[in-house]
Amino acid sequence: MEEKDWDDEECDDTPTMTTVSRHCFGDDSETPSFSISIIENMKEDYGLFVWPCSVVLAEYVWQQKHRFSGATVVELGAGTSLPGLVAAKLGARVTLTDNSTRLEVLDNMRRLCELNKLECNVLGLTWGVWDAPLFSLQPTLILGADVLYDSNAFDDLFATVTFLLRNSPGSIFITSYHNRSGHHLIEFLMGKWGLKCLKLLDGFSFLPSDKASLLSGNIQLAEIAPISKDNA
Ligand SMILES: C[S@@+](CC[C@H](N)C(=O)[O-])C[C@H]1O[C@@H](n2cnc3c(N)ncnc32)[C@H](O)[C@@H]1O
Repeated sequence: MEEKDWDDEECDDTPTMTTVSRHCFGDDSETPSFSISIIENMKEDYGLFVWPCSVVLAEYVWQQKHRFSGATVVELGAGTSLPGLVAAKLGARVTLTDNSTRLEVLDNMRRLCELNKLECNVLGLTWGVWDAPLFSLQPTLILGADVLYDSNAFDDLFATVTFLLRNSPGSIFITSYHNRSGHHLIEFLMGKWGLKCLKLLDGFSFLPSDKASLLSGNIQLAEIAPISKDNA
């Protein structure tokens, strides 16, 4: 369930086209357990817009709520951060991250935490860059919605994901992505980085019909972990 209230503000000669969308979560769509409000800027691309993969991953987080209560969660390329904010609402300690050069995206994340009355850590984290704060992150669950969209950045993303998974034994990376050209490149890179897919789902297989009817495409959700003696 999603509602959008347009709030076109005048800014010089062009409207900013800021909108607040509301995303509901619950077992019964008539009486949601809670909702998350997201400030979006439709003029910007990437990090200031709720991408369909984020709706899919946020719903998965809600449905897997038993794993998130008390968990330590890092969301990569979080943008408008819907999955991470749902995890925080479920009682996880959450760090929301995005490219450290995208200050407007990081500022928007802080506003979203305030708007939803949630206390999350907000951190600039660029994939493949080894800044000091990365070394203190020990997530049990790593989230990434639509972070596998530019194949030039896949290696940097997998380098960061692999570091976090190895730095926090037992942790799992849960990602939703558009399967545009088959799973082959992702499978190849998982092998290259010593990772293994534990679960692969069609994103529409668990999405309630009211949310599914607003989305299209071939969205998959994967749970990924390091190859070890236990799961080889
Ligand atoms: C397609 S958007 C997805 C945003 C959000 N997860 C969603 O699904 O609505 C990709 C996100 O990855 C971030 N991103 C892109 N390249 C990045 C990099 N090298 N390091 C960190 N974040 C990056 C972008 O700023 C953007 O927020």
